[in-house]
Amino acid sequence: MSDEEAQSSHSQPVDPSADKPKPKRRGPVRRKKLSTDGGNPQPRNQKTDTQSLSASVKQDSEKKENKPTTAPKQRRASKPVEKPKPVDDQARNVRDLAALKGKRPIVALTAYDAVMGRMVCDAGVDFILVGDSVGTTLLGHKTTIPVDMIDMVRHTAAVRRAQPNCLLVADLPFGEASFSFDGLLESARRLMQEGGADAVKIEGGRDVADDIEKLVATGIPVLGHIGLLPQTVKAIGGYRKFGSDREEAEDLYTDAIALEEAGCFAVIAEMMEENVAKELARQILPPLIGIGSGAGCDGQILVTTDLLGYNLGKAPSFVKTYANLNQVISKALSQFVSEVRKGEFPS
Ligand code: KIV
Repeated sequence: MSDEEAQSSHSQPVDPSADKPKPKRRGPVRRKKLSTDGGNPQPRNQKTDTQSLSASVKQDSEKKENKPTTAPKQRRASKPVEKPKPVDDQARNVRDLAALKGKRPIVALTAYDAVMGRMVCDAGVDFILVGDSVGTTLLGHKTTIPVDMIDMVRHTAAVRRAQPNCLLVADLPFGEASFSFDGLLESARRLMQEGGADAVKIEGGRDVADDIEKLVATGIPVLGHIGLLPQTVKAIGGYRKFGSDREEAEDLYTDAIALEEAGCFAVIAEMMEENVAKELARQILPPLIGIGSGAGCDGQILVTTDLLGYNLGKAPSFVKTYANLNQVISKALSQFVSEVRKGEFPS
């Protein structure tokens, strides 16, 4: 998401006292299965025979032997990273996740590579989402629309190589759910077989519910996503809150029920009016995981780079930034450049 788009959409909270959605139906829920010569640099392409190479190595070790024995210069070592204590009630699969509803808040984060996948999992999340947000957070795109299956399979496989012991969900990129069901099935298959995902996420409500039902019947666990659908940003004209009027709130309700009935194991609620998200969480069986949708959801997910302060722009206003990696990284990189330029490194 570009700065402009992100800020314009997330900095204008709408009055949460908007009309509550009137449930259209309630009752029993239809459950679906669910280089060394001391200062004489040689040109790099000069041929060095084995003899001169070993002579130079010998000279070097003699030099070392004649060196006065002063205390070795201390190289500043980085502190060993303290590994967080393992969390024993992390969700390992979709059933564990669904069972957390009503017990404790579910927590999830995005990851796009092996390093972050490992760290996010070790922090104790219940699931990792390899989101198509990789496009805006790491790949330099303005929206998630250019992200394709090659990106998603590559990043999902990278996170899988970190061997996370929590649930790993991969996003279906823009357009994949709009082709034929066979096309959608093939893309979901690739995310699971080539990427190693445990489940897939699809943006959309009742419009994609039938296809989700068929995927679920095929054994593909699906995470729903309603409210703000970043893949539709061109159609909706920017990022904004959803559910501020009665009609939109009722639409969200209809979408949530459609996803529940299609067998989604959980549903993401992005940028939804707080009272609407709270009510939906109360009404549907699968956990409702919020992002910018208030505290009434069954759990929370954030884009990891946003909470770490690692980005080219500003994080959306609802994000709490827990670190400022931009600053830490800039400082370290500038120090390296300065030390090499001044001949201080290598010392
Ligand atoms: O792509 C993504 O990271 C997402 C989250 C914002 C839920 O869809």
